[in-house]
Amino acid sequence: MSLRTVPHAGGKSFTILQPAGASDSDRAAFAASVRSGLLGTPKTLPWPYFYDEQGSRLFDQICELPEYYLTRTEDALLQDHADALVAGWESAPTLVELGSGSATKTRRLIGAALRRYGTLHYVPIDVSPTFIEDSAAALVRAFPSLRVTGHVGDYRSELQRVAERLPGPKLLIFLGSSLGNYEPDDASSLLRQLAWTLNPADRFLLGADLDKDPAVLEAAYDDAQGVTAAFNLNLLARINRELGGNFDLDRFAHQARYDPQRRRIEMHLVSLASQTVTVPGARVTATFAEGESIHTENSHKYTPDGLRAMAAAAGLEEEAAWTDARGFFRLQRWRLSVRM
Ligand code: AVJ
Repeated sequence: MSLRTVPHAGGKSFTILQPAGASDSDRAAFAASVRSGLLGTPKTLPWPYFYDEQGSRLFDQICELPEYYLTRTEDALLQDHADALVAGWESAPTLVELGSGSATKTRRLIGAALRRYGTLHYVPIDVSPTFIEDSAAALVRAFPSLRVTGHVGDYRSELQRVAERLPGPKLLIFLGSSLGNYEPDDASSLLRQLAWTLNPADRFLLGADLDKDPAVLEAAYDDAQGVTAAFNLNLLARINRELGGNFDLDRFAHQARYDPQRRRIEMHLVSLASQTVTVPGARVTATFAEGESIHTENSHKYTPDGLRAMAAAAGLEEEAAWTDARGFFRLQRWRLSVRM
């Protein structure tokens, strides 16, 4: 673990904690998941690997797309209800954010918390050191009284460590419907894991995308400009770059399908020909039939009842919730269940 204090123009600084020398094992883990994903039936690739530098940039572009209503709708909710979202403590809770990304939306909460409490400690946890560093720099510039301690790493393992060391109450936030990437069982175990780190005075703020017209959903995941297609295909480009693969990106097509039973958008990369692909760095050769797909991502959609049931299964309960006029997106603040 390395601890860096990053000095910053204007005398402000922030701290970043980063596990040392993880890159070899990262590469091995990437290779192993590519291998097992391409040898499986059906073929799959794991979504966490979307977010290399290129992929993170593309994701930022997705968030600006006219069809991708999620970011905009959630941001409006955060803006409209910022005061209520951060209220409820005598003095500032530590704001702990999971998978903070570029942390633009979080500014609403940070601004409201600083107005209400005067000081604030913001603790973002993200796998991307660049995201943490850039957003921390921008935040201390925008909010001179803000203290930032960034943690680079997987939030499932980092949160425990972070939570143990916090002196007072926390507001844990998990925005953007990021939970939606997890299969229901995995989402439940993640929520139980998060609940385990909560104390009675803590709160958990979850942003979740709601079930809706499949046409709206499919457009959001298959935009006219092809940014989502580029985001999906970047996974193959990354395999080529990092593992020496020979995927021909022109021979795979992006596809987004809504499954109303499972309430999820599935993203696939469909092979446009019968072909063979070799990835030496993952020691794998995969053959594709024409029309065969690689399943790359699920994005689950929720109902208010379903969300409350998920909370209950994790020993949590809804304290308050906020939805936009169209009923597209929902923020909910959960606490430990009082009857346990
Ligand atoms: C970051 C998981 C919330 O599922 O909407 C966006 C990722 N994939 N477009 C989502 C994503 C394709 C996004 N999450």
